[in-house]
Amino acid sequence: MNIQWYPGHMTKTRRMIAEQIKNVDAVCEILDSRIPISSRNPDVDELTAGKPRLVVLNRVDQADPQATKRWADYFRSLGYAVLESDAKGGEGTAKFAGAVRELLADKLRAYAQKGQVGRVVRVMILGIPNVGKSTFINKIAGRKTAKTEDRPGVTRSKQWVPIDRGLELLDTPGILWPKFEDQSVGLNLAFTGAVKDDILDVETLGCHLMSYLAGQYPESLVTGYKLPSLPERKEEENDIAYGYRLLETVGRKRGFLISGGDVDTERMAKILLDEFRAGKLGRFTLEMPQN
Ligand code: G4P
Repeated sequence: MNIQWYPGHMTKTRRMIAEQIKNVDAVCEILDSRIPISSRNPDVDELTAGKPRLVVLNRVDQADPQATKRWADYFRSLGYAVLESDAKGGEGTAKFAGAVRELLADKLRAYAQKGQVGRVVRVMILGIPNVGKSTFINKIAGRKTAKTEDRPGVTRSKQWVPIDRGLELLDTPGILWPKFEDQSVGLNLAFTGAVKDDILDVETLGCHLMSYLAGQYPESLVTGYKLPSLPERKEEENDIAYGYRLLETVGRKRGFLISGGDVDTERMAKILLDEFRAGKLGRFTLEMPQN
């Protein structure tokens, strides 16, 4: 899988985080709740070591609610504060300031004891592209803030976004990607649309997605594609082979045929991805916590 992830931009972003970490009280990491591990940059641990952390599970409106609960418990068990959010709909975002103050309660108490009342709390916001970072920031700031971007002509430096009199965010420009070494990370980012389809083979993606949904959420395929039942997976079939057979089954049902009576599986794969991303098949989480 050939995904462009701009190592130069990553280096710049890492440097900026390292420089700025001393200026913030906490770090807020925004994740896609459908893929909380794949949408995470593993270097964040090392870059932000020691700072209190708030994990925002964003896009909860698109994720499996049961799985989101498990993920929230998982991140809490690691010692992070957790906020579940649908930044687009505005669900959960109003709890941000309270969650930060709760996370920093000891520190704020210590400031108060030293007479530093009204000291501004600063939070660094991190997230991979398309996770909903700008939507989230705009929602909690209550207005549209300029998007921090890192591309020629639109280079913006870091920006401080005031939330209320006592709270400021540091929006980080640049690009922070997860590691693509594990194939499932690349697939998850592609399923959710975080990386563009034109750099990936849509049919292969469709096969993998079909296989995953058939394994974890079979009812969604039966209902969504009005199938009497799902074809059983044969022992010798891998994800691609089984997924391909499912694409054929559903494509045939929809009448996507090409000359010779074969199914246009590429068209079906495109439609599957579109419908999956638009939420037409339901709410899904693509990876689960280990425990
Ligand atoms: P980024 O800064 O992390 O790159 O992401 P951004 O906020 O630009 O969001 C990317 C897309 O995801 C936007 O959709 C945005 O509306 C949508 N989005 C963000 N958070 C959520 C969420 O919690 N739930 C859902 N369902 N969608 C979310 P778009 O199609 O690019 O723009 P728009 O037409 O929605 O404005």
